[in-house]
Order: sequence, then structure tokens, then C-alpha cells
Amino acid sequence: FKVRKPENEPIKSYGPGSRERESLKLKLQELKSKPIEIPLIIGGKEIYTERIGSCIIPHNKQHVLATYHIAGEKEIKMAIESAMEAKKEWERIPWEHRVSIFLKAAELLAGPWRDIINASTMLCQSKNAFQAEIDSACELIDFLRFNAYYLTEIYSDQPMSTKDFWNKLEYRPLEGFIFAITPFNFTSIAGNLPIAPVMAGNVALWKPASTAVYSNYFLMELLREAGMPDGVINFIPGYGKEIGDIVLDSQELAGIHFTGSTKVFQGLWKKIGENLNRYKVYPRLVGETGGKDFIFAHPSADSEALTIALLRGAFEYQGQKCSAASRAYIPSSVWSKMENKLLNEISTIKVGDVEDFTNFMNAVIDKKSFDKISSYIEYAKESSDAEIICGGEYDDSIGFFIEPTVIVTSDPKFKSMKEEIFGPVLTIYIYEDDKLEETLDLCNTTSPYGLTGAIFANDRKAVVHMKEKLLHSAGNFYINDKPTGAVVGQQPFGGGRASGTNDKAGSKLNLLRWMNPMTIKETF
Ligand code: NAD
Ligand code: ALA
Repeated sequence: FKVRKPENEPIKSYGPGSRERESLKLKLQELKSKPIEIPLIIGGKEIYTERIGSCIIPHNKQHVLATYHIAGEKEIKMAIESAMEAKKEWERIPWEHRVSIFLKAAELLAGPWRDIINASTMLCQSKNAFQAEIDSACELIDFLRFNAYYLTEIYSDQPMSTKDFWNKLEYRPLEGFIFAITPFNFTSIAGNLPIAPVMAGNVALWKPASTAVYSNYFLMELLREAGMPDGVINFIPGYGKEIGDIVLDSQELAGIHFTGSTKVFQGLWKKIGENLNRYKVYPRLVGETGGKDFIFAHPSADSEALTIALLRGAFEYQGQKCSAASRAYIPSSVWSKMENKLLNEISTIKVGDVEDFTNFMNAVIDKKSFDKISSYIEYAKESSDAEIICGGEYDDSIGFFIEPTVIVTSDPKFKSMKEEIFGPVLTIYIYEDDKLEETLDLCNTTSPYGLTGAIFANDRKAVVHMKEKLLHSAGNFYINDKPTGAVVGQQPFGGGRASGTNDKAGSKLNLLRWMNPMTIKETF
């Protein structure tokens, strides 16, 4: 049994006047005009609780898209019981049947569900059509199809047998349930965190980010329509800490599939350490966390390509990609060739709502984020080591809008060269051309993260040298390209250091983390 390697899902362009744009616009209107009530989904049942949260549109903060119910202790315990009950059957059905449910989900998403998942992501996470399409449609479809393909490869990887005995690896799922804790910024990642372990025969609790409950709920509905049995994934929106504390107390916890901030993941790891004697198994900890991703230019760099990489890497989706280019090291000879072009290009960036398809940037996710990002801008305004060369304004009267902002600093260890801001703020350090080596060292050591990074150089020897010097600085390393936009099946994604356990989302490496292989020897 062999499955052909899938092709990546083609990206739709939603060009002016196209049928696909008109259809997406209609879906946006429809969703905006009909606020919904979102229940928890536990064991296939819709559960309504006493506590309610609301999903708003970040670029139009008065507009409520939905209210959602918040899980408490009773519901979380019910979700664990439902998952463990569903596990009895789910882990025993032939894997081809399990996987085909998710291949069906991929087809639904590629077809009739595409608009609703894209439109709900656009409204709830303030993503323009292109950014939604590459995330909630293409990347998620790719996760589903490539996971299926990699599973066939894993299951067929068997040890050698002889004429006297037969050896076999049985790739059992983990003993217990998986806790999937998901971030706001990618609907695809939010979906893949529960889906990947479940495709490998596990059951899961899915705690979506509060700011992404709306789009994530539609995804949960899609999975149910595709035939996912009750209880296999249990959808439990609520307060992170409250849910986390209760779930981590369960002796059935077998793993955490987390994407989010470094601080939260470290807190979960510590709590699991404290609880270790409680669990039946060592919970697998898979976490993709924060980043302070860099672009490093060599004096031989192509300044045009570098300019495009900075623009797209730093400002697409308002700099809220974990992979976003947020610090850059540029030699003065290259900077003098590109400064004007960069500033001109940034001045053409339009910021606004998602229904005007010409807006390149939209709002940042919420008030907390808006306040954090603007505090870094204010810090730069007041510092004698930094100058804001464009942007720097922000306004939350209608939505959480922040201008694309570039800070140039004379201090390579300036606050915004080290810390994750998670917004449309790029900090640049301009170095003298003859200071390449010490600047590479600074790039490698200034931040605790190691997620993505890009180098720009046309000199081949420099490429090899720079890559060696920056060896552990990134899990996804780009040569002459922006550090964002990893594609499933092409650039497996994840980083090390404070950026995570580097278990490469959308690859065999990740799927293997959700398996507990049993070696069987049968003697004849
Ligand atoms: P976050 O850490 O605030 O939240 C992530 C999830 O954790 C949410 O569902 C939240 O409710 C939950 N949570 C919070 N406290 C918890 C607790 N004590 N116990 C259990 N769950 C808890 O992150 P975010 O704001 O949603 O996402 C932004 C962060 O995610 C950034 O740091 C970004 O770099 C990171 N990120 C990383 C990757 C990657 O692949 N490395 C990808 C996307 C986002
Ligand atoms: N796939 C996303 C990126 O690489 C995380 O930007």
C-alpha cells in the first residue's frame, strides 16, 4: 500500500473581478451579518456553559462576530473522559480508515468549505485574503494530505525478518490523550496541532486561542462533517491557565502539542515536571514557541532582493508570524543603495480592513498586543540609540492599527533587537563592511531564540561561511529569501533554542512524536 506524494494545494489569487473574489466577499458579508453562538464540542455534543466570551473583528472592534462558551472544570473533565472513551475504538480501527477522514476533510476545505474557513480567518484574525488563503486553505490542506502521505511511509518502514522469525514494528499511538494548545496567528497550525496526533491514532483536547475561537470552530465543524467520530477531538475554548492547570493534573495526559509563546510553554513544562509522578507515561512535549527572526546581509547581497525580503518578511500579516523578520543586519555599503527604495516601498503599504483587497496590512490581533507593540515604538522614540525612520504611529479608535515601522539602531543589543514584539516593527542595525565577523557573532548570540533566519549574499564562499557561523541560530534557514512562508512538504518548519523542540510541523519527525512503537518478534 503506497500513496503518491501529494502536490501542494495551488494558491488562488482572488484577483479583481474574479468569481473567487466575489464568492469570498459574499461569505464575508454573510458571516458579518449573522453573529453566532459557539458551544464547546465534547464527545460530539454541543455544550453550553454559564461563562461567555466574545469574538470581535480586530479591525472593527465594535463588531461582535460570535459569543462563545467557556469551559470550566466540569467540562474539562468531561472532555478527558470523552477522549478516553473514544480512544478505545479510534486507536484500533485500521489506519487507512482514520486517515481517509482527514483526506476527505482536505477535499471539503479545498472545495465547499474554502470560503467559510478563509472568510472566518480574515474577520477573526484580521488577515487579508492572500494571507488567509496561504494559511487556512493551502497550508492546512497540505498538512492534511502530507500527514497522510508521511504516515504511509512511517507504517511501511519495517525491520528485517529472517526465515526463522518475523520482526515487526507496530506504531501504536500514545497511551492517554493529547492536549493541543493552539495560537491565534495561523488557522492551519491551530488545526494541525490536534489533527496530526489524531491521524496517528491518538485522541485530543483542543484548546484554541481566545482570539481565534471563531475560525477554529468552523474548522471543528468541517472535521465533523468529514466524518471524524465523536470524542476524537474535543473543542474546549476557555482561559489558558485555568484549562491548563486542570488538564495537566490528569494522569492520562500523554502529550502536549503546543504552539504559542515561550513563556507559556516553559510554564507548562515546569508544571509537568512537578506532576511527573502522577502520569502513567512520560508526556511528550512538543512546542513551537517564540522567535526573533533575522535577516543578515553580506556586502555582496543583492539590495533589490533584500528590500523585498524585508518588506514581506517584516510586514506581511502585521509581523505576527512567528517567522517574521524582526531584526536585520545590513552592511553600510548595501544600506546606502537600498534605503530610499525601502522607504518608498513602505510608504505605499496600505493598512486597513480586510474587505478592501488592496490593503497589504490589517489590524493586530487585540488590545493587549496593540499596547505591547506600541510600547516598543515609544521606547524607541525616547531612546538616544535608536531612530524611527518610518511609521511609528498607531491608532485603536476603530481597530488595532499600527503603521509599518522601521527602527534603525546604533546598538546591536537594543531592546527590539533581542525581544519578540510580534507586530509590524523591524529593527535594523547597520554595520561597517569590515565588521562582518563580529556582527555575525552578535546575530548568533543577541537573542535567545532560534526559529528562522535568512542570509543574503551573492558570494558563494560567504554563504557557506555565514551558514556555519549561524549554525544553531535558526531551525529554518533561508539563503537569499525572506525567513517566512515555509511550505509543507518543502520546508519542514520549527526551531530550537527558546523557539521550541524543533519537531518540524508537517513532517515525519513530528508524526513520530505521537507514536509509541512496539517491536514484535515472532519465532517460528
Ligand atoms: P500565547 O502563548 O499567548 O497563547 C498560545 C495558547 O496558549 C493559547 O491558546 C492560550 O490560551 C494558551 N495558554 C496561555 N496560557 C496558558 C496556560 N497557562 N496553560 C495552557 N494554555 C495556555 O501565544 P499567542 O499569542 O496565541 O501566539 C503568539 C506566539 O506564538 C508568539 O510568541 C509566536 O512566536 C508563537 N508562535 C510560534 C510558532 C512556531 O512555529 N514557532 C508559530 C506560531 C506562533
Ligand atoms: N508557515 C509559516 C511561516 O513559515 C509558519 O511563516
